Amino acid sequence: MTMRWTIGGRLALGMGAIIALFLMSDLVVYWYAHEFSALGSGFRLCALLAGVTAGFLTLRSVTLRVRSLLAATQAQAAGHLSRRVLPESGDELGRLAIAFNQMAEVLERNAVSRTYLDNVIRSLSESLIVVSPTGVIETVNPASCSLLGYPERDLTGSSIQRVLGLNDTALTLEFLFTGVTEQETYYYRRDGQRIPVLFSAAPLRARDGSLQGAVCIALDIVERRRTQRALAASRAQLRNLVQYLNLSREEERTQIARELHDQLGQSLTGIKMDIAWIQRRIEDHEASDQRIAQRLNAMSRHVDATVSLVRRVATELRPAVLDNLGLVPALDLLLRQFNERTGIGVEPSLGPAVNLTPAQATALYRIAQEALTNVARHAQARCVQLRMGHSEGNARLEVQDDGRGIEPSDREPRRSLGLLGIEERARELGGALTIGGPPGTTLTVTFPIRPSP
Ligand SMILES: Nc1ncnc2c1ncn2[C@@H]1O[C@H](COP(=O)(O)OP(=O)(O)OP(=O)(O)O)[C@@H](O)[C@H]1O
Ligand SMILES: [Mg+2]
Repeated sequence: MTMRWTIGGRLALGMGAIIALFLMSDLVVYWYAHEFSALGSGFRLCALLAGVTAGFLTLRSVTLRVRSLLAATQAQAAGHLSRRVLPESGDELGRLAIAFNQMAEVLERNAVSRTYLDNVIRSLSESLIVVSPTGVIETVNPASCSLLGYPERDLTGSSIQRVLGLNDTALTLEFLFTGVTEQETYYYRRDGQRIPVLFSAAPLRARDGSLQGAVCIALDIVERRRTQRALAASRAQLRNLVQYLNLSREEERTQIARELHDQLGQSLTGIKMDIAWIQRRIEDHEASDQRIAQRLNAMSRHVDATVSLVRRVATELRPAVLDNLGLVPALDLLLRQFNERTGIGVEPSLGPAVNLTPAQATALYRIAQEALTNVARHAQARCVQLRMGHSEGNARLEVQDDGRGIEPSDREPRRSLGLLGIEERARELGGALTIGGPPGTTLTVTFPIRPSP
């Protein structure tokens, strides 16, 4: 165990030593009063000298250590945070030195994390501004200065309203201190230019909950806006292209269907009449050849089959009934043919006819056609309902089946194009597609009845 000498203890020891020496000198004088009185005086003098020397040494040691502490404190104040002092002993000054070293340690640690934080803030590519509770800018990072075109000294101390371009102080403070997350707003540059930014602000609170200010982060989204505009333009172009392709495909289909029906159909009818004529002639002839008659019968059946094939293909390409009688009879025919082909039950509910433009009628017909094809291919349904109606200026087409339903994964990623085509056509009509279910699948397309732009 080490013995701790306090400064008080040392001084008391020194004083005690002086008093003891005085007493001893008195004792000696008492014994040798007459013969050695000079000796007594000598002792007193020695004792006094020893006391003064001890006091001086103690004082000097204290002064030197206080000086060293002072120098270390001044070094800390000048930013030399690694400076420490030697405790030397366990007295009050020693303990003061230990406490000083501990404080310096904490200061250095805090300074390191502060520097770290400063570096993080400085290297942020987003603009960071810290404002006081009254909205005065206290800290800005270099990204803010380059975004706003101000030197740091011009920004710190000025109001955040200058940057946000807001006139109402109360409104600005409410905006900042209630917290904002990724809101699109504007920052105002020194040259007056308005920059779109993605802005977030969070209130800064002390441990006791009192408001210390707000931290504002802003991301320059000029580039993002540009990209968004370019993307929107290219989407619009793509949509126009799809519209154009749909339109020209429809025109081509109509033309082919018409030619199939009119030209090929008429030629086949002509062939059929010729065959009938030859059949009659052969039957009239006495020496008619049975084999020729059979061959002609077979030819006649082939021509009949080809005529109905041509009619079916022409109808699938573009049903004449759509152009001649309108959408409702065309959908009715489509459902009947679907039922004959697939055996799936159909329940039409086609309401009173809606007054549609030819383009709208064609789009709805194609939507119903693709939806029914999907039911036949994917749904494993027993029954499909096709409903068409209108209310409050909106037309609605609904195709509902009682099949296995569409999984969300069926729609992502978009490798198949049927549903995408339906969605695109719905958008062309100024409306939208929704997919409902389970049970089963319900495709609903709604759009305003006014002529599409
Ligand atoms: N009525 C339905 N019932 C169940 N699943 C369906 C139904 N309609 C569509 N699906 C699912 O959604 C997927 C996407 O349909 P979509 O019409 O887009 O493509 P597809 O029919 O596979 O191919 P295509 O591009 O030839 O139309 C289908 O592959 C199918 O799994
Ligand atoms: Mg499909």
